[in-house]
Amino acid sequence: MKDVFKEIKEKFYFTGNIKEDSQKLLKAYGKCSVAEHSIGVAKEARIIAKQYVGNCNEAEIAGLLHDISGIYENKERLLLAEKLQLNIVEEEKVLPLILHQKISRVMAEDLFQIKNKKILSAIECHTTLKKNASKMDMVLFIADKIKWDQKGIPPYLEKVQSELKISLEKGALCYIEEAIKNVQVIHPWLKEAYEDLKVK
Ligand SMILES: [Fe+2]
Ligand SMILES: [Fe+2]
Repeated sequence: MKDVFKEIKEKFYFTGNIKEDSQKLLKAYGKCSVAEHSIGVAKEARIIAKQYVGNCNEAEIAGLLHDISGIYENKERLLLAEKLQLNIVEEEKVLPLILHQKISRVMAEDLFQIKNKKILSAIECHTTLKKNASKMDMVLFIADKIKWDQKGIPPYLEKVQSELKISLEKGALCYIEEAIKNVQVIHPWLKEAYEDLKVK
């Protein structure tokens, strides 16, 4: 167990029920909207996985845990990532919010005992995707965008859903095309995923 998570381990009893434990942890830190968003993403990931991957349970687990690092405030993220010895890129220093995907992966592994590499990979790149993304990576990436964590309907929703009917790749590419028009900081993984999917 990593020292940084010692306090959580001391405060919480992990039953082994991922849904219960993750919801309990987020709510204990007052992150009820993240808890609600995670349930929505898990359900959506199940639906997309049923169509494209087959293993709905893995997709659901990835959805439940993808934003588990939401218990940490944005200002804590950079220091936490350093303590966890994560590979931090320049764009993440400018926008530490993006680090939450990598921190969630470590928490899933360390606190929730997730060893499944497909689940861990999907959690780690759920915000930015990455080059050579797996089907599971794309399932979680798209589910997170369809069930976004903001109010109202995502402006890209209709387009992404219609492209998703054709393929996971098209759904992911459609979202990235919309996103890069609006983001201030383009993470290298997002750029690489974009170049990769364009060719595919
Ligand atoms: Fe996220
Ligand atoms: Fe999310």
